[in-house]
Amino acid sequence: MISTIHAVTTSFFPKWDTELLFKILNNIHDVVLVIDSDTTIVFANEAYAKILGVPIAKVLGRRLDRIEPSAKTIEVLCTGQSSYCRRSYLDSLGINVVGSTFPLYNGKKIIGCVSIFKNINDVVELNRELNQTKGVADYLKEQLDQEEHLPNSFEEYIGRNSRLKETLKLAAKVAKTDSTVLILGESGVGKEVLARVVHNSSARKNKPMIKVNCAAIPEDLIESELFGYEDGAFTGAKKGGKLGKFELAHRGTIFLDEIGDMSLTMQAKLLRVLQEKEFERIGGTRAIKVDIRVIAATNRNLESMIEEGSFRSDLYYRLNIVPIMLTPLRERKDDILELAKVFLKQFSGEVGHELTLSPQVERLLKSYEWPGNIRELKNVLEHASIVSNSKVITSNHLPARIIRKKQRSNVKDRSYDIKEIVASVEKEVILSALNACNNNRTNALRALGISRKSFYNKLHQYGIIDI
Ligand SMILES: Nc1ncnc2c1ncn2[C@@H]1O[C@H](COP(=O)(O)OP(=O)(O)OP(=O)(O)O)[C@@H](O)[C@H]1O
Ligand SMILES: [Mg+2]
Repeated sequence: MISTIHAVTTSFFPKWDTELLFKILNNIHDVVLVIDSDTTIVFANEAYAKILGVPIAKVLGRRLDRIEPSAKTIEVLCTGQSSYCRRSYLDSLGINVVGSTFPLYNGKKIIGCVSIFKNINDVVELNRELNQTKGVADYLKEQLDQEEHLPNSFEEYIGRNSRLKETLKLAAKVAKTDSTVLILGESGVGKEVLARVVHNSSARKNKPMIKVNCAAIPEDLIESELFGYEDGAFTGAKKGGKLGKFELAHRGTIFLDEIGDMSLTMQAKLLRVLQEKEFERIGGTRAIKVDIRVIAATNRNLESMIEEGSFRSDLYYRLNIVPIMLTPLRERKDDILELAKVFLKQFSGEVGHELTLSPQVERLLKSYEWPGNIRELKNVLEHASIVSNSKVITSNHLPARIIRKKQRSNVKDRSYDIKEIVASVEKEVILSALNACNNNRTNALRALGISRKSFYNKLHQYGIIDI
């Protein structure tokens, strides 16, 4: 019985009056709008002005069918059917609202309608931004996947070398835990690739791995990059503030790359976050808690940095819980050809024909020291795949440094042959000009400042083209 629900109010309101009713309606934070049977607005509460930004006096007594002809309220007046929690758009104000509308009866006759609704413009806008960001993120992810075919799991990771296998075993074990991992190794050895594999093999794989390149961010920006900032925290700050990398990595992994390049001041701040798993945004007072897994990497020797005072020992001990040292390529030569084949397969797809290595190139690749490790091997093969017009990559398609090394070690008596040295330098310069000009020969010969005839003679002489 509906009346019994309200029955207690009769004693509470001995003298029920409109003033009291309006007081109640004005304290409601949603808009309350009442129209009569010809859509004239007979009541609007104070929230109307606050939420829609229109003074009440301007609308009272005006007909809603003239201000907002497609308003849901008018529809309810015509049909007599209530509408609950429906979303609509107010054309006259450019505002999205959500709310309910009920007909008012006098006996069986509809005498008007009441609408109660709120402005959801911010929510709609946020939703739009969120969807856009998601779209951009998906797009970028797709691009990344297309650009590099990198191992995504330990199964895909190339390597038969026994030392590497031991390293991967340890990495696979630690991936399952939440422990902090410190990946060490020379430049180009694949530290970032391994960090990604560890993240993708962890329970956090469906959350993001957020990378912070500690060497690339200017000192005065790194704090806002890591911790974010509140609205108006400093001049030039983005309106509405910005989330820092630690917040973006919540429930996922934060990858602190080039950790050895972080200043001592930032090291102290980072240490606090790692110890307490909480921080404050710049300009904020609230402590923000995050659930993150940390993977750090560096090609620097942190222990000698501690000795010279440029790396905090307490931060080192916090990071060095499970250190993983990646073997340089020259110490896992048994993997060079397998890696080379994977890269060649990738480049074959790009140049449009199958590429193979000549036996001499295989020998050269195996004997070279690879100071730039896997990155250098990949770059050398990419370059060779572009400059070779045939299906077989020969030593003519390799940079001089790779061939020179071999000759110096094996053919000592020819290492001072000036003609050969000049020729190999010349060849390298031509290849690099072609590379810089995206293989456009006319632009390359212009950049080299030689005649077309002499350019083509040299291409032929060095086996850069077959004609
Ligand atoms: N296991 C791998 N399989 C395939 N490609 C790899 C592998 N490891 C590294 N690479 C290639 O080498 C490049 C360099 O790898 P990565 O960026 O992980 O090296 P790094 O150790 O982080 O180097 P740096 O110290 O210079 O930052 C990658 O972009 C990828 O092309
Ligand atoms: Mg790296």
